[in-house]
Amino acid sequence: MFVQPVPTLCRDGDSLLILDQTALPWQRRQVRLRTLDEVAHAIRSMQVRGAPLIGATAAMGLALALTRDGAEDTTLNHALALLAATRPTAVNLHWALQSMASRLRPLPAAQRVTAAWAAASAICADDAATCEAIGEHGLALLRTHPAQGGRPLRVMTHCNAGWLATLGAGTALAPVYAAHGAGIDIEVIVSETRPRNQGLLTAWELREAGVPHLLIADNAAGHLLMHGEVDVVITGADRIAANGDSANKVGTLLKALAARAANVPFYIAAPHSTLDLACADGAAIPIEDRGAAEVCSVTGPGAQEDGHPVTVQLAPPGTRTANPAFDVTPAALISGIITERGVIAPSDLRAAYAGVNA
Ligand code: MRU
Repeated sequence: MFVQPVPTLCRDGDSLLILDQTALPWQRRQVRLRTLDEVAHAIRSMQVRGAPLIGATAAMGLALALTRDGAEDTTLNHALALLAATRPTAVNLHWALQSMASRLRPLPAAQRVTAAWAAASAICADDAATCEAIGEHGLALLRTHPAQGGRPLRVMTHCNAGWLATLGAGTALAPVYAAHGAGIDIEVIVSETRPRNQGLLTAWELREAGVPHLLIADNAAGHLLMHGEVDVVITGADRIAANGDSANKVGTLLKALAARAANVPFYIAAPHSTLDLACADGAAIPIEDRGAAEVCSVTGPGAQEDGHPVTVQLAPPGTRTANPAFDVTPAALISGIITERGVIAPSDLRAAYAGVNA
């Protein structure tokens, strides 16, 4: 079983400890969350990020809120509404909150706190086990994609769908860790993922784990795919519609298009909590708009001795921008979806998960 080098999220008494991802890859900093507002802020500001981790944090945050503020219906409803409004695209958030609400609502207030912590812990444990299963199915899949020309097996990914984004090994990176552990000669091509550069989180994870990787500018992906430098593309997802259309970090669609043109298989790796079978297709998936600041600036360690990250402006104030944080890859471009149940064709998803998350 994969053990996270630092827990992305854990309970510590009546508070939560998170690994602050806004400080990575420069500083490894844990932050304590004591209130519902602090939990909501951590999700909104992306101190915790990645679809499964967002859902698990919301579930733990709900338990924390009931513990601190009382477990009557008014507190429950307020906490559910506040947490649900933190980020729009990752359906794991709503899946986790709905699962908590359906367990807690029928209970008397006196029983809700204990039940909330138990339900939130179960969501965390389920995610770790799910990542493990995705890793196993992904490893079997990778064994069917031999490397070309004597070089390592090259897997391209986008954003961060590793352990940082989950309670376990990750989704897209779980097969990579499994393959590395199984002695397969593997190398990961990591795109930087502007504007928030979550690719740097992936590079950090892989370096810590000793997995060979190459960091590339987002714009280099098409060139590498077309020149036979990539054997398979695997990304995560934030919401998968019933027809298999998959929302993931913006830039995923361009990789899928280039992979199709280059005849390279493109896979999505995601847990059941990312499926939204009530959503007929990708057009119905809400896409987060994160505003101008991220596009017009870049953050990294400054010259100060403490190495604290500083933000540098790239574009003059007032520059007009668009910043959709996700895009939707049509099912037709997806070779398969790696879930805890196996590798599923997008067209078979509805049948494979009939009655789940609908
Ligand atoms: O905006 P983020 O960093 O939360 O977006 C994360 C992604 O898009 C991931 O690829 C996705 O959540 C899968 S994480 C296992």
